[in-house]
Amino acid sequence: MSACRHFGSCGGCTHQDGSDYHALKRATVMAALARAGVEAQVEETRAVGEGSRRRAAFKLARTNAGLEIGFHAARSHQIVDMGECLVLTPPLFALVEKLRATLTGVMKEGEKAELHALESETGFDLSIRMERKLTPALTAAIAAVKLPAARILFNGEILLENASPRVSFDGIAVLPPPMAFLQATAEGEGVLREKVLAITGGAKKVSDLFSGLGTVSLPLARRAKVHAVEQDKDALAALAAAARVATGLKPVTTEKRDLFKLPLDALELNAYDAVVMDPPRAGAEAQARMLAASKVKRVAYVSCDAATFARDARILIDGGYRIGVVTPVDQFLYSNHIEMVAGFTR
Ligand SMILES: C[S@@+](CC[C@H](N)C(=O)[O-])C[C@H]1O[C@@H](n2cnc3c(N)ncnc32)[C@H](O)[C@@H]1O
Repeated sequence: MSACRHFGSCGGCTHQDGSDYHALKRATVMAALARAGVEAQVEETRAVGEGSRRRAAFKLARTNAGLEIGFHAARSHQIVDMGECLVLTPPLFALVEKLRATLTGVMKEGEKAELHALESETGFDLSIRMERKLTPALTAAIAAVKLPAARILFNGEILLENASPRVSFDGIAVLPPPMAFLQATAEGEGVLREKVLAITGGAKKVSDLFSGLGTVSLPLARRAKVHAVEQDKDALAALAAAARVATGLKPVTTEKRDLFKLPLDALELNAYDAVVMDPPRAGAEAQARMLAASKVKRVAYVSCDAATFARDARILIDGGYRIGVVTPVDQFLYSNHIEMVAGFTR
């Protein structure tokens, strides 16, 4: 492992010190499970390569010396001006270089901005936030920069759309709305999908909870009827539109619902042979309690937080499920975060 020149100052990475990094990530998952009193086999961490992160939120500041762009330093609002990055995909890093060279003339001295970038198959989906109104002059100045963008939003308004940003899940194309959630790396997403498809293998009716754009729902629909539930209506609309035009899929239905406040109850859950859930870091405590009271045979649980995953695993086990092998996936390269996936059966 070669250390980045910014390691130690940039807040993006916390592990590049030559320690047994993958073992450390696996140990984090094991420790969280042990704290919750959950006994499970935890596999070796599935590695994801450097240069693989396809979405990021950058901080920008125009100083008298030029444009600073990068991530904040640890526990600070100081921007570490990015000269290299081991984590970003090469096109995403090249975008940083291009922004530095070209936005210097667009931003005024003292001005700050935030930029969300997502690499799509048709170009970047960019969203800029700045304390400035969008004027025709500013639109013209940003458009003139000729960023490799499919779409640019400025404070939530579409400033430019050359093409619809497009992502594909196992060959099924989806046109994401602005600021959509996408797994951090394509490689990590592939491992999660492969595991979820294996855990739910043979199921004919599946509910995909916290479905996002349909990362799992759409490939699952090649062999099962899928009901996708999510609170983001724009993500659900993109998922539904993708299902309508894709060929060879079984019926896909969608439901906008806040699964923290109104989880699917046991009666609703019992309509499915298998349930997939992939909640945000807070986990899915309310939904896990309903699953524990249900008769659903198989649950595939994807999580980006070891502590809430362990808490919810405990609830499922207390409800009669057996936990299968837990797979840590190193999606958040060189950070403290870890993704994991496991199956639960009854
Ligand atoms: C970790 S993402 C997973 C998305 C998708 N499964 C994927 O693999 O891309 C979590 C998803 O949960 C959704 N979400 C967050 N809070 C929610 C809530 N209270 N109820 C329903 N969905 C929620 C987010 O909009 C997001 O799409």
